[in-house]
Amino acid sequence: FEKDIEFLTANLDRYADFPKPGINFRDTFALFRNPVTYKKVIDIFTDHISKLGADVIVGLESRGFILGGAICYNLGIPFVPIRKKGKLPGKVVEFKYELEYGQDVFEIQEAAIKKGAKVVIVDDLIATGGSCMAAIELLKKVQAEVVECVVLVELTDLDWRSKVSTKTTSFIKIDS
Ligand code: PRP
Ligand code: HPA
Repeated sequence: FEKDIEFLTANLDRYADFPKPGINFRDTFALFRNPVTYKKVIDIFTDHISKLGADVIVGLESRGFILGGAICYNLGIPFVPIRKKGKLPGKVVEFKYELEYGQDVFEIQEAAIKKGAKVVIVDDLIATGGSCMAAIELLKKVQAEVVECVVLVELTDLDWRSKVSTKTTSFIKIDS
C-alpha cells in the first residue's frame, strides 16, 4: 500500500485557521468524496482490521462513521457508533473530553456492546488523542476489550501518545 499512502497524503485538504485561529485543519472528506481515494482508504483499513479478530467496530462521530460502515460491510461484523451527547436514544454511558479546539461529551448505547467483546475503534484522525481516549474510557465502562485504535491520519507533532495507551495504528503520518 506504500504508493497508495503517498497518493492519499497528497490528496488530503488543509484549511488554515479552522475551526479556530491557529488550527491547521486536515480535511479527510477530500478523500471520502473521491471514489478512487475512498476505495483505497477502505481497502487499507479492511486489510489491517481483518487480522485483528475484532467482534465489533466502534466508529467515532462523524468521520469514523463513514469509515466504520464500509469496513463492517467488508468484514461482516457489527458497527456501533459513539456519538456526541444527546444524539443516541435509550440508556447511554457518557464521558467528557478535550480536543485540539474545545471540549465535548461522547456517548455510547449501553446495550450496543456485549461484555468482553473485542472492539476496534476507528476514526479519521488523531490530534490530541482526546477523542480516542474518551472512546476507550467509554468502552471500559461497558466492559468491552479495546484491541486497537485505527486512524487514517496521525498528527505526529501532537502529544496524543500520553493520553492513548492502547495500541494505535495510523496510515498517514503528518505534522499539524
Ligand atoms: C475531529 C476528528 C477526530 C477528532 C480528533 O472530530 O475527526 O474525531 O477531532 O481530535 P483529537 O485527537 O484531538 O480528539 P471533531 O471532534 O471535530 O468532530 P466532528 O467529526 O463531529 O466534526
Ligand atoms: N482535522 C480533523 N480533525 C481534527 C484536526 C484536523 O486537522 N485537528 C484536530 N482534530
